[in-house]
Amino acid sequence: MRVFLTGASGFIGSAVIEELKAAGHEVLGLARNDANAAKLEAAGVAVHRGDLSEPKTLAAGAAACDGTVHCAFIHDFSQYVENIAIDRRAVEAMLAALEGSGKPFILTSGTLMADPGREATEEDGASADGPGAARGATELVVEDYARRGVRAMIVRLPQVHDREKHGLVTYAIEVAREKGVSAYVGDGANRWAAAHVSDVARLYRLALEKGQAGARYHAVGESGVPMRDVAEAVGRRLGVPAASITPEEAPAHFGFLAMFAGRDAPTSSRLTQERLGWTPTGPGLVEDLEPVAA
Ligand SMILES: NC(=O)c1ccc[n+]([C@@H]2O[C@H](COP(=O)([O-])OP(=O)(O)OC[C@H]3O[C@@H](n4cnc5c(N)ncnc54)[C@H](OP(=O)(O)O)[C@@H]3O)[C@@H](O)[C@H]2O)c1
Repeated sequence: MRVFLTGASGFIGSAVIEELKAAGHEVLGLARNDANAAKLEAAGVAVHRGDLSEPKTLAAGAAACDGTVHCAFIHDFSQYVENIAIDRRAVEAMLAALEGSGKPFILTSGTLMADPGREATEEDGASADGPGAARGATELVVEDYARRGVRAMIVRLPQVHDREKHGLVTYAIEVAREKGVSAYVGDGANRWAAAHVSDVARLYRLALEKGQAGARYHAVGESGVPMRDVAEAVGRRLGVPAASITPEEAPAHFGFLAMFAGRDAPTSSRLTQERLGWTPTGPGLVEDLEPVAA
């Protein structure tokens, strides 16, 4: 398959490139500047120039390929809602270009957006309120096109990690370094799901190859890691204490991350594992957060 990959220069896109190439697929990677174009070419990836804010450029890339994996996103959380709107327009343009083609399209979404407090499953539709609502609206666009002749699917990501990057925990590490304390909210019993980046990349490939139109897949290796365990591991990594803060203190401490920090979002991937024959095998989030042995 020739696959159009947006976000090809990013953390997850880079892993998806390796996974797709190893399975014999060709990749056309989106790059919005010369530096990333050169990086992709050096990795043996054909380059498509474009930008999320110019939807036609992405539609052209999608139309030129047998399948599309959408991993690009503008991670400026001070403009979160605006960036989601930009993303949605780009997704609409790509899907419109694929209407009636039967080709696969994978939207990247997130697990933290589900309703808090109970284990979310693939059967749960897009969240209608809370921090997930804006991005959840893009899931609805994908579900619409799944009924209009596109094998359109949703892959929901938890905190995706390796030894260097850890999803939103990467930002929590920056806050802990700056403030000299690794904080959790309340008793820190609230849980975030997680997955190793190699498992996530394999899931994208399996969905591309055999996923069903309209399906939601959860790339979840660990269904719920307590945030106190995460904060303590961050503390060990940085050599700073872990400590509880109140929900009222969270905005001043965490900044934009406060909207997620106290959220309890355990997430199942049981149906994904059954439906795609996917078995996560990578290390856990806390293991990947531990200090590098001297
Ligand atoms: N990592 C996680 O734990 C996690 C968890 C949940 C959801 N997600 C979602 O998964 C997707 C991939 O995340 P990631 O961790 O790989 O992010 P990342 O490392 O920040 O990569 C983002 C990608 O988007 C591209 N991009 C940014 N602005 C763009 C624009 N205006 N036009 C075109 N491309 C643009 C970047 O290109 P440049 O190199 O040119 O900036 C980069 O390739 C995103 O949708 C993210 O929100 C990730």
